[in-house]
Amino acid sequence: MSSKGLFVVLEGIDGTGKTTLAANLAQRLAAEGNEVRLTAEPTDGRIGSLLREGVTDDPRAEALLFAADRACHTAEISKLVSSGVTVICDRYYASTLAYQAAAGAADMKWLRAMNDAVISRPDVTILLDADPELCSGRIDSRGERSRFEKLEYQKRVRENYLTIAAEDGFSVIDAGRGPDEVLEDAWRIIIGLRDSNASV
Ligand code: TYD
Repeated sequence: MSSKGLFVVLEGIDGTGKTTLAANLAQRLAAEGNEVRLTAEPTDGRIGSLLREGVTDDPRAEALLFAADRACHTAEISKLVSSGVTVICDRYYASTLAYQAAAGAADMKWLRAMNDAVISRPDVTILLDADPELCSGRIDSRGERSRFEKLEYQKRVRENYLTIAAEDGFSVIDAGRGPDEVLEDAWRIIIGLRDSNASV
């Protein structure tokens, strides 16, 4: 049995419930005796903080900063996974591909090449897919609208995500349902992964 942990990534447009699913998955994995770490991008490190402050309006510069944040984050994630910790990461490279392409930062080819240079392949990426109108309602009810969260933009981001998911073999879950149903689907995916590499 391998002593490595799993590297699990959650993706989806704003309001799809990634944070809730991450917490629920972590709880279930921990209850089974696994060491689990929750993490997210943009990180709360220096580069991630700059991004949250909106340090630049230049979409290319923003894309490069997201990748720079990711380069530092990937080193931390790899260390944890190698030491047997299962890492659940809320957003990873597909966020830059989906969001920054939708923002017109650059074409997918450039975004991919730039990210390929810094990432480590996740064991699984779960895409939470839901209607942007529904997600926008969830965000409104949280009262947390940011400049990233405009509806038309989210629609383009969703289309990009679905294309990337097909290209990169992501597991896609219908996130228009309640948190328990989403958790059950995600848990089945994790179990399948565990059975196939016996690493959790
Ligand atoms: P989000 O996970 O929604 O942060 P919070 O938990 O604070 O709401 O991420 C903030 C925004 O950053 C989100 O709208 C998506 C955007 N983003 C990108 O545009 N590109 C990226 O590479 C990443 C990681 C996030």
